[in-house]
Amino acid sequence: MIVKGKKPWQKYMIQVQALTKNYGQFTAANDIYFEVNPGEIFGLLGPNGAGKSTTINCISGLLNPSLGEIYINQSSVLSEAIKAKASLGLVPQDLALYEDLSGQENLNFWGQAYGLAGDQLKARIEAVLEQVGLTSRAKDLVSTYSGGMKRRLNFACAILHEPKALLLDEPTVGVDPQSREHLLTAVETLKEQGTAVLYTTHYMEEAERLCDRIAIIDHGKIIAIGTVDELRNKMGEKDLISLQGDFSDVESSVLAEYEVIEWQNHTVRFMAENAAGQLSGLLAKFPPRSIKQTSVQQANLESLFIKLTGRELRD
Ligand SMILES: Nc1ncnc2c1ncn2[C@@H]1O[C@H](COP(=O)(O)OP(=O)(O)O)[C@@H](O)[C@H]1O
Ligand SMILES: [Mg+2]
Repeated sequence: MIVKGKKPWQKYMIQVQALTKNYGQFTAANDIYFEVNPGEIFGLLGPNGAGKSTTINCISGLLNPSLGEIYINQSSVLSEAIKAKASLGLVPQDLALYEDLSGQENLNFWGQAYGLAGDQLKARIEAVLEQVGLTSRAKDLVSTYSGGMKRRLNFACAILHEPKALLLDEPTVGVDPQSREHLLTAVETLKEQGTAVLYTTHYMEEAERLCDRIAIIDHGKIIAIGTVDELRNKMGEKDLISLQGDFSDVESSVLAEYEVIEWQNHTVRFMAENAAGQLSGLLAKFPPRSIKQTSVQQANLESLFIKLTGRELRD
């Protein structure tokens, strides 16, 4: 429930309450609640189309929510937009760079847009270039940068004004391993400096490495929320077993004692304790040659997502 005019609890840097965004009849974000503390990395983990960008774009004020309230550093994004945005940095999913300017010129442009000038702007530009490892390429045109370098510059533009809250929308999609490492380390440094970070991704490994808490989002709804350990515990001690093959003539009763997540002609998934130790016995329940491929996954965010939705995180 939203109490009109009531300020959020002081400690939160980002607070999202009952956020809903409809596109006509379609609900892209559905009654989303979460908050991010200073010095915390909060992850929104979900597959393509889950509603991550919609949520981030509502928080940054790019989109108007259909319902709900959003506070940044205790100011409402809806009714006190200028105040709220002063504490906010956004790394959008799509690059916001001028290709025919140098990296340094792009930073100069964004810095002025944030109200920085003179020596202060110069010092900040040097600092962020260093932070993302682009100092030696600062004077080169962005059109000569690799995809990963553009992503790093995109990130540098968003942190020039030292925002207390930073929103990152899938910042590492399609980048090379070196740029990815630069970006992840830079995010970790910001957290240590007390920034509240909202990080969206469909990469489970990134969420597990970076995030203090994670909300798993699917079809616009948060379906699980907690620390990585809390989410793993939802899987209990069970492993997820995935079988590929031809199961069209197999009775699903062969797995009567197990928790079956998915049963299709070519894919069967189920949960079992200590799966690796009893795998040959489990596979023997199936007719010979019906199984072409087997995989066993210990409890992780990917297996939790499959358990909750019956689908994989990646397309
Ligand atoms: N402007 C729009 N009009 C209609 N549907 C949209 C619009 N923008 C996004 N959507 C839909 O909303 C859903 C969520 O999209 P998005 O927030 O971009 O997901 P994600 O960032 O998690 O991949 C998708 O099904 C997408 O097709
Ligand atoms: Mg997106």
